Amino acid sequence: MNTQKHQPIGVFDSGIGGLTVANAISKLLPNEQIIYFGDTAHLPYGDKSKELIRSYATTITDFLLHEKNCKAVVIACNTASAAAYEVLRDTYKGIAPVINVIDPMIEAVIADEEIKKVGVIATKTTISSGVYQEKFSRRKPSLQYTELATPLLASMIEEGYYHNNISEAVIEKYLSDDALKEIDALVLACTHYPLIKKQISTFYKNEVKIFDSAEVVAQKLNWILQKENLASDKKQATDIFYVSDFTESFESTTHIFYGKEIHLELNNIWKKE
Ligand code: DGL
Repeated sequence: MNTQKHQPIGVFDSGIGGLTVANAISKLLPNEQIIYFGDTAHLPYGDKSKELIRSYATTITDFLLHEKNCKAVVIACNTASAAAYEVLRDTYKGIAPVINVIDPMIEAVIADEEIKKVGVIATKTTISSGVYQEKFSRRKPSLQYTELATPLLASMIEEGYYHNNISEAVIEKYLSDDALKEIDALVLACTHYPLIKKQISTFYKNEVKIFDSAEVVAQKLNWILQKENLASDKKQATDIFYVSDFTESFESTTHIFYGKEIHLELNNIWKKE
């Protein structure tokens, strides 16, 4: 395969939450063109079956690699990473690297010797996949592990409730759960949660280390591009942000996740099949 440095990076999520990861990538790697795909027609992934998410993720990755000529694909969604990463990695082996949001986070946590007990909060599908538990126990058996599904958080943030007393009450309710007792670190295993990182730190009086995926994933991508000699030295074209279903509300919410409002382009890749 003859991959060129100037080809874009594909980034996808169930919706627009993955823009937190796209934003971290564009800050760390300003020479890379990003082609983002938010599967807003099938959102949320957090309560869908693994099989269905795998089928969505495969169609999106085919689109990014074959129609958009991307040189690498980032699964900027915890739920899709939990359900579909291994399938995508194996399917596109030798074609393009596929990066998920879970492994870089696991690596960051296990490298910190001070952490004895880690907690994970995520959607129902991510938690029930057991993927964090399995990866932590395989990579560092001495680390104590606990987890909690926090299904209200993603929709709450998407509705713009993330710095007010309602979000504070919901966050407090979840974090006070016995399941998260005595942790020294908390993994925010959902694309939306960086938006409430501050409130979570405040709840823990800054005594618990909080990990979110956006930056560690951007660093992992950088590492892979350098290793494969695929890093671009000049941005060739502007970023494109596709969604499979368009509403004005999606577009106006982009500023929450990307820091500024961006234009979303409707592209329902399922309608073409
Ligand atoms: N993007 C999803 C994740 O990171 C959250 C939203 C959804 O459930 O689709 O898990």
